[in-house]
Amino acid sequence: MTTLRSREAAGDTDWWRSAVVYQIYPRSFADDNGDGVGDINGIRSRLPHLARLGVDAIWINPWYPSPMKDAGYDVSDYRAIEPVFGTMADAEALMAEAHALGIRVILDIVPNHTSDQHPWFQAALAAGPGSPERARYIFRDGRGPGGDLPPNDWRSEFGGPAWSRVTEADGRPGQWYLRLFAPEQPDVNWDHPDVHAEFEQSLRFWFDRGVDGFRIDVAHGLVKDAGLADVAGLEFPLPDGTPEGVEHPHWDQPGVHDIFRRWRAVADSYDGPRVFCGEIWVGRDHRLTAYLRPDELHTAFNFNFLMAPWLASALRETITSTLAAHAAVGAPATWVLGNHDVCRPVSRYARPQDRVREGFPSLQGYLGLPADLDAGRRRARAAALLSLALPGGAYVFAGEELGLPEVEDIPLEARQDPMVAGTGGANIGRDGCRVPLPWTTDGSSFGFGPDGGAAPWLPQPPDWGRWSTAAQEGDPASFLELYRAALSVRGGHPALGDGALAWVDAGPDVLAFTREPGFGCWVNLGTDPVPLPAGRVLVASGPLGDGALPADTAAWLALG
Ligand code: GLC
Repeated sequence: MTTLRSREAAGDTDWWRSAVVYQIYPRSFADDNGDGVGDINGIRSRLPHLARLGVDAIWINPWYPSPMKDAGYDVSDYRAIEPVFGTMADAEALMAEAHALGIRVILDIVPNHTSDQHPWFQAALAAGPGSPERARYIFRDGRGPGGDLPPNDWRSEFGGPAWSRVTEADGRPGQWYLRLFAPEQPDVNWDHPDVHAEFEQSLRFWFDRGVDGFRIDVAHGLVKDAGLADVAGLEFPLPDGTPEGVEHPHWDQPGVHDIFRRWRAVADSYDGPRVFCGEIWVGRDHRLTAYLRPDELHTAFNFNFLMAPWLASALRETITSTLAAHAAVGAPATWVLGNHDVCRPVSRYARPQDRVREGFPSLQGYLGLPADLDAGRRRARAAALLSLALPGGAYVFAGEELGLPEVEDIPLEARQDPMVAGTGGANIGRDGCRVPLPWTTDGSSFGFGPDGGAAPWLPQPPDWGRWSTAAQEGDPASFLELYRAALSVRGGHPALGDGALAWVDAGPDVLAFTREPGFGCWVNLGTDPVPLPAGRVLVASGPLGDGALPADTAAWLALG
């Protein structure tokens, strides 16, 4: 019988179509040297945990040299390792050890912007207006008298105008440069051949070292409108019904696809699949799957699923439209519940789901809404089974397998996200999902670092140990054992991973579908128990009544 595991063992070139990818935020995963920041040797020490969990690949957030103005998303050298995280030898050892365990390694590439400490930007500052060095970035004169106003109305994702002004060599206020994120993250100019060459060389550098793929940061942002036209109030993502031809001036510009065709050619020049996953926030399905045409990216994060509230109608609609759009280009969908930018699923689903506002699902959006964390936990467990049963691949952000909640009460002064400073504290940012992981029930950092080492870079709550791996190990009711059981079934079941589903009508509050051969997933999003069909229960997210599925519970079934 062909199963995910047997296909894997046979060197299946399509492994990425079904892969469960575990996201490691290196600062927060495991701290081997006791400096309070996670590191590569910490990841190495925990690879047995990941092998036991049963994931197919790891995606590691940026580990390159960085001044850490945006936790590593400000890269000053794309072909080296940040000393806080370790050495190139550590990185190579990690890749070899992961591969020996059958775990693929995906890195994170940041092509929209560099650090302001990147040699190119330093050269651009020194060289002055009109120089070839400035042409690799997006420098412009300001508007208004004395050029005192930014060149256009674009806004930074982290608050305020998307432009920063430089002081020229003569000491006078000079040109402005574009930076859609922090001031220390200048956007590069993708019309420049050096930029293409630099990033393609970086892809090859890591592919040559055995890396299996890249997650592409802000993939929909690289190309800007040639005239830098004002946004002029245009909403983004563009709503349904937006006429073709209406484009946002700096998100999802059509020219971005040419870049990824070139990248795909680089990946395809290697033996064995080297794959891409795009971070693409564009809303409408057909704009997302345009990136997944056969000569572009392999996969993209499905943020529409992540953003859908825990309501059967919303989820059914999202799943259906996701699958249809992906099928049209022959790409597998991915199912994503969280990452390092959004509120942890337990805390997100704890909010009243009919009152969750649309928009970016960070904690900021939920402030003021009451939280029922028990309900959040039940729903996050059911959502885990749902996401792992749907056709395609899935992502698990480190700590999801422990059911970690968002840490909501980090004091403002301890928060590190540049969004906090960029908005003058009006937005509390994304630190709440980045709190260093608990591995043990006690110890000065709950096993994140050596006992007595430096305090973790973000404070852990005093009761953090109750969510630790050690506390959950062997407890059949725990999150950890639920994930292990589900991934074990998934790895051995011929119906799971890539493929198709058939919906079953089990009532308006139930998501029920079958997959061939012989698999069923039932999820109850209503308030009353619902009957389950005849079949053997493979895994359930909570205790089952007598043949009935309680509220906020999911079950996987072997059907006759
Ligand atoms: C992506 C990353 C986020 C980062 C931003 C700028 O959205 O996921 O963490 O702040 O890009 O690089």
